[in-house]
Amino acid sequence: MSIRVLSVASEVTGLVKTGGLADVVAALPAAVTPHGIEMTTLIPGYPAVIAAVQASTAPAPVKRGRKPADPALHVWDSLLGEPARLIAGKLGDHPLLVLDCPALFGRDGGPYGDMGGKDWPDNWRRFAALGRAAADIAGGAVPGLGADVLHAHDWQAALAPAYLRFAPYGAPGARPIPSVMTIHNMAFQGHFGPEIFPRLGLPDRAWGVSGVEYHGGVGLLKAGMEAASTITTVSPTYALEIREARFGMGLEGLIQTRGPRVRGIVNGIDTAEWDSATDKALAANFTVRSLPRRAVNKRALETAFGLQSDDGPLFIVISRLTWQKGIDVLCECLDHLVGLGGRLALLGAGDAALAAELSRAAARHPGRIGLRIGYDEALSHAMQGGADAILVPSRFEPCGLTQLYGLAYGCVPVVARTGGLADTVVDANIAALAAGAATGIQFAGVDYAGLALAITRAIALYHDREAWAGVQRAGMRSDFSWRRSGAAYAALYRELLSETA
Ligand code: ADP
Ligand code: GLC
Repeated sequence: MSIRVLSVASEVTGLVKTGGLADVVAALPAAVTPHGIEMTTLIPGYPAVIAAVQASTAPAPVKRGRKPADPALHVWDSLLGEPARLIAGKLGDHPLLVLDCPALFGRDGGPYGDMGGKDWPDNWRRFAALGRAAADIAGGAVPGLGADVLHAHDWQAALAPAYLRFAPYGAPGARPIPSVMTIHNMAFQGHFGPEIFPRLGLPDRAWGVSGVEYHGGVGLLKAGMEAASTITTVSPTYALEIREARFGMGLEGLIQTRGPRVRGIVNGIDTAEWDSATDKALAANFTVRSLPRRAVNKRALETAFGLQSDDGPLFIVISRLTWQKGIDVLCECLDHLVGLGGRLALLGAGDAALAAELSRAAARHPGRIGLRIGYDEALSHAMQGGADAILVPSRFEPCGLTQLYGLAYGCVPVVARTGGLADTVVDANIAALAAGAATGIQFAGVDYAGLALAITRAIALYHDREAWAGVQRAGMRSDFSWRRSGAAYAALYRELLSETA
């Protein structure tokens, strides 16, 4: 029997993306389908999403004299005080639901803030509405769309499990709808003041330590972690790390309490989107058997970034420019990298001070360091397909996807030993090299000493051309697909259902 799962999130690749969350939400339906799961995805109706959905669904012909039929699947007269509708779209071959609520989502800017990057002051209401709508839908408010399991991603969707638990749906005595709360990044928790509580439409008993209350205010992620049947994170190592204060960021106690209910399931990548044999963003397509063709892509990259051409290694970074990603430490190591004959092409957006620091390094090393400040999906593919190595010096990394794209494209990952980076890259130590198992370089300690040594090791390995090609090939052959993780999520949904049966 197939299981219906409602996946709810604030971004999905192809429609709206600020990071890896969007890639995972987009890939999940196809990953679980082979395991008998029918996944529907719910996202907010930001203007770009509404426009894309309307463009893809041709309106039905309207008979003269008749009002066009409202294509809404459901209408809320008041969702957290605002009128809202549910409209249908498509996510590839999979169903998509869009929460159209112009008062909350119909604005220019990003999904979480205005053009200047300042968070919307009513984010609590925007994402409480998303959670409420998800719970209503899963709970059967819309005929034909009810779900067996609800799967919420990150703080923006985290009130959905709380609404399911505290405002129970269905007939009295009906079995509860189990829920999964996936934490993609513990650094973002959605904290708000206590004054929002009465406006959430939750019963009084939802207030308190086992409800939505967090240090006297309301914590959205905390609420979801408390209410969900199971918590998952996006790698096994991160699931262990967040038991400690350094990674748990205040929620380590709750993670410990929920102990066996916390699981790590590592992300895969969309292997259709990231296929070096067919990727249109590459100047030359290649496979593990035609690695030398990557040279064409490397030259194209040098031109795109205004870099000198030589036989030395070309490193890339594709990242949000933030403290999490260790970009400040990268800046400290750039003279070292260039001094050893390396070059760097960086694509990133974020913190202005970090961007300025990178610009100073690029000015110091013309032709050796090239920057592109901004967001460019096609360029990110071209970079993975042409560069020799990708640097990921994150202080913490719940999973990380750029190292996986690197593995798939023969771009050797050089990563900090944390979270998903630790779980997905096999360090090129002597034993792993001898066994043909090495796929990259790991380093401990995100500081100058740690990263500089990793860069030194990478450059030395690069000059052993045979060993380097072996590492590239092992990376390309490693399993970074969704196969295993799709099965793990499906098994989890089944397990939860059998518990509530
Ligand atoms: P996070 O979600 O923490 O930012 P991930 O590694 O999981 O980190 O995912 C980042 C995603 O965003 C990847 O798909 C990566 O290729 C993409 N990305 C990050 N910065 C840029 C950028 N400036 N331009 C294009 N893609 C980017
Ligand atoms: C978050 C994490 C990143 C992870 C992504 C998708 O953005 O920072 O490590 O890969 O979510 O799960």
